Amino acid sequence: MNYLLRGIGVVTAVGMISLLSFSLPSPSGEARGDGGSDTLPKLTHKNWQQECASCHIAYAPAFLPKASWRRVMGGLDQHFGENASLDPVTQADILRFLEANAADAGTSRMGNRVMRDIGPKDAPLRVTETRWFVRKHDEVSRAVWSRKAVGSAANCAACHRQAEQGVFDEDTVNIPK
Ligand code: HEC
Ligand code: HEC
Repeated sequence: MNYLLRGIGVVTAVGMISLLSFSLPSPSGEARGDGGSDTLPKLTHKNWQQECASCHIAYAPAFLPKASWRRVMGGLDQHFGENASLDPVTQADILRFLEANAADAGTSRMGNRVMRDIGPKDAPLRVTETRWFVRKHDEVSRAVWSRKAVGSAANCAACHRQAEQGVFDEDTVNIPK
């Protein structure tokens, strides 16, 4: 962006117009930073942020359907080899939030994309198991996933520098050596 700003001083009127249209939503209505194709809606929820972001990033609700979140939240005592149990009130509160913003809640473009590849009865436990995820990462080789600096496909932030902010676009990807 910096070089764009510096460039503004020298571009012609025509150039200005193309710069302006660059920052407008695309014809399909995707506004960057507002739930566009690669950017998730900014969500805040105290319990979710407190309880689901201590061992990994708080995976966006839009990455899985409601049925998946019910499975995840129903099995926190045996959560991928960890005990992530919560008191029932907190658990129910987080589940409500996850369901309200899930891939099939119709609240985000990212969710719509994820749902395109999920059968009506599917309830994968992992984002990384969804066909959507596998397709988006088909260029990442097996050797890369097992690099020490990555560790696991679930470690989104290893490659997506702004994963914690819900930003996953191409420009922010940096696969560690
Ligand atoms: C005590 C640590 C811990 C806490 C707390 C925790 N998790 Fe996890 N979670 C894990 C581990 C470990 C994995 C497996 C990571 C891996 O495969 O590399 C995981 C994986 C996941 C995955 C699957 C990731 C993927 O796509 O492969 C989801 C979804 C998930 N957690 C949701 C949650 C939610 C929702 C909460 C809050 C209620 C939560 N987690 C809290 C440890 C935790
Ligand atoms: C080993 C590195 C790595 C890890 C770990 C990883 N990704 Fe990616 N991701 C990539 C690469 C490379 C691409 C393709 C970038 C491109 O060309 O658009 C990508 C693409 C994406 C896209 C699509 C962006 C677009 O432009 O369409 C999303 C969304 C995404 N990843 C989410 C995730 C999530 C969520 C996780 C964790 C559960 C994750 N990624 C883990 C490397 C990684």
